[in-house]
Amino acid sequence: MQEKPVALVTGANQGIGLQIAKELASHGFTVLVGSRDLARGEAAATEVGPNAHALQIDVTDHASIKVAAKRVRDEFGRLDVLIQNAAISNTGRLPGQSLEDYASTTRPGCVSLDEMRAVWETNVFGVLAVYQAMLPILRATPGSRIVNVSSGVGSLTTNSDPAFAYRSIFGPVYPASKTALNALTVAMAIELEPDGIKVNAVSPGFTKTNLNGYLGTDSVEQGAREAVRVALLGAQGPTGTFTHWENETIPW
Ligand SMILES: NC(=O)c1ccc[n+]([C@@H]2O[C@H](COP(=O)([O-])OP(=O)(O)OC[C@H]3O[C@@H](n4cnc5c(N)ncnc54)[C@H](OP(=O)(O)O)[C@@H]3O)[C@@H](O)[C@H]2O)c1
Repeated sequence: MQEKPVALVTGANQGIGLQIAKELASHGFTVLVGSRDLARGEAAATEVGPNAHALQIDVTDHASIKVAAKRVRDEFGRLDVLIQNAAISNTGRLPGQSLEDYASTTRPGCVSLDEMRAVWETNVFGVLAVYQAMLPILRATPGSRIVNVSSGVGSLTTNSDPAFAYRSIFGPVYPASKTALNALTVAMAIELEPDGIKVNAVSPGFTKTNLNGYLGTDSVEQGAREAVRVALLGAQGPTGTFTHWENETIPW
């Protein structure tokens, strides 16, 4: 087992994940830069610096996840922090189509089940598959923790409030995939209570990345901030929380 703590960030070749990787490396972690495309992962790892290694992992591909888990175990021997960051917002938004317009084509009454399945495959089942593959090595690493990168748009409580400005875009594809991720977060936190492994969900806020066609208002530094803060909480830190920045809890 290597002495330095090891963090794996899925979907770290760009956006918030890349920024999380940079910050964890600067906090002394060996960072595994997860990327479904190895070449892009290698380019990102070079950008992160000497403490980073590219790790090919497509969260929808069981063979890829299995090989990645074996590599983590065999080459690094520990996994202190797993950041489940990889996600997609859609597969069918047309070039130039606004988020509101896309939302209007994906309401429960008209959504394509294939579109919903494709997004949930990455954002929900992909997270669970990576969790299952990495669990043995997380359990073998004292003080390990998991951060699931969710979104405030998945909050059932917020979206049930008629005064919430963005509730018109709540729908079965991306928003509900994050609701399901929140449910998985609670289930994982409950399962891992006896092991002392902390599992928390965070919301980056509306961040300027590829996910939203760079329409977000926050920088990637702002978007990465809560995931990094929660990743660095010590063994006494809480579990089963959903937060956006310090002391800002989001209702489930
Ligand atoms: N941006 C926002 O406003 C915002 C708000 C709330 C929550 N979030 C969450 O923040 C996280 C990061 O998103 P982002 O904004 O940084 O978006 P992004 O720039 O599009 O990054 C998403 C990352 O996930 C990767 N990915 C997608 N499908 C994958 C798969 N099957 N296997 C492995 N990796 C996969 C992408 O890889 P490729 O480069 O190969 O596509 C990319 O590296 C996501 O969980 C997102 O839901 C974002």
